[in-house]
Amino acid sequence: MCGIVGYVGNEEAAPILLDGLKRLEYRGYDSAGVAVVAPEGELQLVRRVGKLFRLEQELGARPLRGRIGIGHTRWATHGRPSEVNAHPHVAGPIVLVHNGIIENHMALRSALLARGARIASDTDTELVAHLIHFKLREGMVLEEAVRRSLLELRGAYAIALLSTEEPNRIVVAKSSSPLVIGVGEGAMFCGSDIPALLPYTRRMVFLEDGDFAVLERDAYRIHRIDTGERVERPLRYIDWSPVMAEKGGFKHFMLKEIHEQPRAIEDTLRGRLHREEGDIYSEEIGLSERDAQAIERVFLIACGTSHHASLVGRYYIEMLARLPAVAELASEFRGRDPIVGPRDLVVAVSQSGETIDTLVAAREAKERGARVLAVANVIGSAIPRLADASFYTHAGPEIGVASTKCFTAQLVALLMLAIWLGRRRNVLDPIKARELVEGLARLPLQMRDVIIGTKQLVSNLAKRHGNARDVLFLGRGFSYPIALEGALKLKEISYVHAEGYPAGEMKHGPIALIDVNVPVIVIAPRDRWYERTLSNLQEAMAREGKIIAIASEGDEAVHRLTQDVIEVPEVIEFLNPLLTVIPLQLYAYYVADQKGTDIDQPRNLAKTVTVE
Ligand code: G6P
Repeated sequence: MCGIVGYVGNEEAAPILLDGLKRLEYRGYDSAGVAVVAPEGELQLVRRVGKLFRLEQELGARPLRGRIGIGHTRWATHGRPSEVNAHPHVAGPIVLVHNGIIENHMALRSALLARGARIASDTDTELVAHLIHFKLREGMVLEEAVRRSLLELRGAYAIALLSTEEPNRIVVAKSSSPLVIGVGEGAMFCGSDIPALLPYTRRMVFLEDGDFAVLERDAYRIHRIDTGERVERPLRYIDWSPVMAEKGGFKHFMLKEIHEQPRAIEDTLRGRLHREEGDIYSEEIGLSERDAQAIERVFLIACGTSHHASLVGRYYIEMLARLPAVAELASEFRGRDPIVGPRDLVVAVSQSGETIDTLVAAREAKERGARVLAVANVIGSAIPRLADASFYTHAGPEIGVASTKCFTAQLVALLMLAIWLGRRRNVLDPIKARELVEGLARLPLQMRDVIIGTKQLVSNLAKRHGNARDVLFLGRGFSYPIALEGALKLKEISYVHAEGYPAGEMKHGPIALIDVNVPVIVIAPRDRWYERTLSNLQEAMAREGKIIAIASEGDEAVHRLTQDVIEVPEVIEFLNPLLTVIPLQLYAYYVADQKGTDIDQPRNLAKTVTVE
């Protein structure tokens, strides 16, 4: 979605803004712009449609002068991508950038036009700039004009603005869209996302919904929008290093992030495994032993890839903690008045911690008295802030739009949660728990083996089958969500039509699709579902589908059925998804690479979906 950066300090602002915008490129955008104000108040504004290099070229040819500025990458919501619709927007001395959607934009537009505003763009954003400008003309000081204007807005926003009449301060505000302040030495930053600010500071302050803040070179103040009252928010130290958000020699972030999975898992497991006891240490889960025993149901709510992790998590919780569990798409859970209450645990799973549907669904569950546990990767993001407790994944920043390392980190977090619940509820045999914990500890090395050991074969298969128009992914049990994830990865980045299906449902529809042109990727590791999946594999073969099997090492039966077998180490069945998903991520990557698509920023997709 859109990205915001802002800077006020002693350095030239434009290069810092451009650098920040580049670090936000991964979020997906269609146009970009920066505004810098010179000390004497001269406004310099550059906006360009398309990729950032266009903006960069312009800034190279015509450098901007000034130590304060704001920048933006836009993902069109109101009005097509064009220079005039790109941010920043200007009204009188006000220059403003915005993420989110202002819901009452139609009423605002008519009211502003009636007052004689000259509105240049189709955006909802420009209206906010005019609103503030009118209030300045009525004689309000900047801060008050901003606060009063914000009171008139409905919807989700993160805003950064400045006035050419006061070129020493940036005002930012937040309601349901992320905004973080970066506290530097003699400099203040703001951004919609942590990676934009990482090279400059790791000291960050997260605004709450309904906050606005004034940033000056050496200080910042935070106030409530409704009362104007001053508030304090904790200063947090973010331990992600800027290098983590760079490609490090890989052709794409996605490929780098696939390779980072063993480390992401190691970091997510660190300090949480009690190997002797076969247990999980976790204060962070935020439940007492008695709470764990009192839970009656678990809801896992999420979107996209996080939903697929939740589908596996649902099996983990049911099978290991013997609790009824459902995984629901957050967009379907919210707004239907779900039956959920104080005896339920709602696990909100989200890489970014900012996805609007997951956030709203978690809020609705909390309002009904459910206990909300966040499983998120971004510390201090909106969902953990709303939740009663947060069990973080530690995958580091994920830049590729298609989630990979965060998915596997979510799987281990959910498995740890299930083990913890199972032990607290006395339904998980300690010997089995020890086996699981030992298995988890061995996992990073096995994942490394799978990445290194399968990538050549997978790349060859991608060359052979990459031109197929449709691909079918099949799996049962733990492998069913993995089939969904394999199909999602492929369609997201290579634009090939792909469907994931529970293998047992194949006969109820998808079998009609299978012919000699359709690759069928069957996920069939050794587990309790293995025999039945193998029957489905044979049925697909009988229809001349081109079978690629993901199987456990040394599985002769599968080798006899098809020549295209990708092997993964044999592990305790609960861990299979963490290994079988890797060749599918690589398959999607190599097919897309061969097609030359924009792998890290696939068309129309955004990394974090903060609008509805
Ligand atoms: C977007 C991303 C996906 C992600 C989904 C949920 O669609 O492109 O990769 O899985 O949002 O995001 P979350 O941050 O809540 O996990």
